[in-house]
Amino acid sequence: MGFITWKLDQTPGLLDRVLERKPRAVFLSFGDPVPYGARIRDAGSTLFAQVQTLADAERAVEAGAQVIVAQGTEAGGHGARRATMTLVPEVADHLSNRAPETLLLAAGGIADGRALAAALILGADGVLCGTRFWASREALVPEAQMRVALAAHGDATVRGKVIDVARGLMDWPGRFDLRTMRNRFVDDWTGRVEALADDDAARANWLAAAEAGDPDMAPPIVGEAIGVIRDAPGAAEILAQMSAEAEGLLQGGWRR
Ligand SMILES: Cc1cc2nc3c(=O)[nH]c(=O)nc-3n(C[C@H](O)[C@H](O)[C@H](O)COP(=O)(O)O)c2cc1C
Repeated sequence: MGFITWKLDQTPGLLDRVLERKPRAVFLSFGDPVPYGARIRDAGSTLFAQVQTLADAERAVEAGAQVIVAQGTEAGGHGARRATMTLVPEVADHLSNRAPETLLLAAGGIADGRALAAALILGADGVLCGTRFWASREALVPEAQMRVALAAHGDATVRGKVIDVARGLMDWPGRFDLRTMRNRFVDDWTGRVEALADDDAARANWLAAAEAGDPDMAPPIVGEAIGVIRDAPGAAEILAQMSAEAEGLLQGGWRR
């Protein structure tokens, strides 16, 4: 069960209702997990905390997270500024000094065996992938969005507030924004999000187009890794292929 942490702060009773159902794990991201850590662990659930900075990682340790996900800015969806390449080893060092039992997952830009192997070498115990599974057979993605994304380079994504404002999510804390593909709508409103917030007609228009899956209005929510993704196979196949490729590389295959 996953929560956007700052949103959970506004509806604190929700966590108790979820914990009554005995979830195997609770995943918190984008906010301070400390107020919730003890309740989650006392309920017998595993706390995953996704972090975007070293300071966040320190809070996650304080919260008693059993799994910390270090998310770099390359990630699709909401995120912040640090890059995966530097955040992961820094958090790995912090955990080996302060909380060696805590598992570390790397997230942001990991979509194939090369990146999985690299993350393990940087000190992660595993990875968390979003964009790679967005482009899978099981994902409920409108056909036109999938077509645009599978043809895109990694250059085609951007972080910003436009899409959150368009869909009425005005109160995301300033340090977080959303990585999507660029499109006409994002380009038109970048730098003018206050105007968009005030323009009910433009937002209603966007919503109707988004519901119809129009990629010129609602961009695919994917990260920079979209540039190495060219197909949408089944999730199990993706997992098997990534693991096998990483295993080969870690056994010295990169020297071939
Ligand atoms: C379509 C999409 C939706 C996402 N939604 C959430 C979310 O609701 N909560 C969350 O914590 N992270 C969310 N994320 C971010 C992921 O947790 C993860 O950090 C990210 O996908 C990893 O980077 P990658 O996309 O390069 O694999 C989302 C990512 C994508 C692509």
